[in-house]
Amino acid sequence: MKSCRNLNIGVVLLLAGVVGLMTTSGSCNSMGNMMGGMMDRDSMKGMMKNRMGVQLPPGIEPEELPEPQSSGAKLLVQYCTQCHNLPGPGMHSAQAWQSVVERMNQRMQMMSGRNMMGMMHNIEVPANKELETLNAYLQKHAQKPIDKSQYEDLNSLAGRSFEAVCSQCHVLPDPKQHTVNEWPAVVQRMVKNMNLMGKSVPDEEVVEMILGFLQTHARSG
Ligand code: HEC
Ligand code: HEC
Repeated sequence: MKSCRNLNIGVVLLLAGVVGLMTTSGSCNSMGNMMGGMMDRDSMKGMMKNRMGVQLPPGIEPEELPEPQSSGAKLLVQYCTQCHNLPGPGMHSAQAWQSVVERMNQRMQMMSGRNMMGMMHNIEVPANKELETLNAYLQKHAQKPIDKSQYEDLNSLAGRSFEAVCSQCHVLPDPKQHTVNEWPAVVQRMVKNMNLMGKSVPDEEVVEMILGFLQTHARSG
C-alpha cells in the first residue's frame, strides 16, 4: 500500500515536470500504464486533479472565452487543456501570464515525444508562431488591475470587502472591465471559482455589497 502511494506521488511529480523521481517501482496500474507509454490525456487529467495541493485552473467553458472564435482562443483550447481544465485569460494579469506561459511551454516540451527515461508522451507543443498568438491573446484579455487612486470609496465597507475578497487569486480587478448588466454573471462565476479553488465563499450580503460596488463603477454601455 505504502509503495503504491509513493508511486502515485512520483507520477504526479513527473507530470509536474520533475523528472527523475521515478526510481521506485511496483505493481500499481497507473505505473504500468506509464511504463507502457499508454497514458491517455483523460487519465492524466484525472491523476493531476487535486493532488499535493497543486493549484490548477478551475476551468471555464470554451464559449465563455473572450473572442471565442479568434485563433488565440482556439489555440488556448487546443494546447492548454491537455493536462488540466481550460484556463480563463482573466486568471492572471498580463505581467503574471508571461512567466506562467513560459513554465507551461517548458512543461509541454518536456512531455512531448520520448523523455530521458524512454517513455512516450503524447503532448502537443505549440509552434513558435502559435505560441506568439497564444501569448498575444492572453496579454490582450488578461486581468486588468484597478487604479486604486481613482476609487476613494475603496475605504468604505463595500470597497474593503471587494478588496479583501477579489484579490485572493488575481490582482484586484478594474470595475470598468464590465457593464452593470455583465457584472452579476461574472461575480457568480467567481463564487463558483472560490468553491472550486478551495477559498471560503463570503455571505450572500457581502457578495451583494461587492456587486453593488462593481456596478457603481461599471463601464457605461
Ligand atoms: C504538459 C501538461 C500541461 C500543459 C500542456 C499545460 N499545463 Fe498548465 N499546469 C500544468 C501543471 C502540472 C500545473 C500545476 C503546477 C504549476 O502551476 O506549475 C499547471 C498549472 C497551470 C495554471 C495554474 C497555476 C498558475 O500559476 O496560475 C495555469 C493558469 C496554467 N497551468 C495555464 C496553462 C496554459 C495557459 C497552458 C497552455 C499554454 C497550459 N497551462 C498548458 C500542466 C500543464
Ligand atoms: C478563488 C479564486 C478567485 C477569486 C477569489 C476571484 N476570482 Fe476572478 N477569476 C478567477 C479565475 C480562475 C479567473 C479565470 C477564469 C474565469 O474567467 O472564470 C478569474 C477571472 C476574473 C475576471 C476576468 C473574466 C471576465 O469574465 O471578465 C474578472 C473580471 C474577475 N475574475 C473578477 C473577480 C471579482 C470581481 C472577484 C471578487 C468577487 C473575483 N474575481 C474573485 C479566480 C478568482
